[in-house]
Amino acid sequence: MRKIVAAIVVSVILVSCSTTDSGPAVKFKDGEQAVPAGYKSWPKFLMNVQRGDAKQVRDIYVNPIGARAQKGQAFANGTIMVMENYAAKPGADGKLIKGELLRVFVMGKGDGWGDSAPQGLKNGDWVYAAYLADGLTKAPEPAVTCRACHLPLTKVDYVHRYDEYFATRDGGVFTRPAGGGY
Ligand code: HEC
Repeated sequence: MRKIVAAIVVSVILVSCSTTDSGPAVKFKDGEQAVPAGYKSWPKFLMNVQRGDAKQVRDIYVNPIGARAQKGQAFANGTIMVMENYAAKPGADGKLIKGELLRVFVMGKGDGWGDSAPQGLKNGDWVYAAYLADGLTKAPEPAVTCRACHLPLTKVDYVHRYDEYFATRDGGVFTRPAGGGY
């Protein structure tokens, strides 16, 4: 009897170890990672990002694994970021007013996920997926376009708003460098 109990305990430990911080056991490719349920209760990465050029406002969330990253580090395997892209119009004060949700973008990383990247477009181990507002229907944007635009950001783990996130996460203020890329 004791042996059986011990065996059960061991297998429970083994199972729970397979989904540690090193990332989930599943290996996603571009377009495969679903919009995670409950992401709106995750830590906020940046809210109300003003994209006057694209006439959009964006809200970005990061899962708790990603939120543990420290400035200067890459995000750990198991990190997921979700970005909601809203249509927006300029308000009287010049600030954009959020309209309807257009797209939900997901990027996540895990051990070896980048191996499936097309040649010349490997952004570390990040993979990308894009959905319509329902969060279920695939959006037409091909993942190679995501990769190409995030690819140059090698110093900040391919994350566009990396500096702004770490500068503001604990209540600080971010000053965009002159000529900053966005
Ligand atoms: C033309 C360049 C461009 C393309 C194409 C692009 N992105 Fe981004 N992405 C950005 C910029 C710039 C930001 C920062 C937020 C902002 O300014 O809108 C961003 C931010 C993000 C973020 C939040 C984390 C971060 O990097 O700050 C996610 C998640 C994301 N993009 C996913 C995607 C996915 C998925 C696709 C493809 C469907 C995609 N992106 C295509 C430029 C791009």
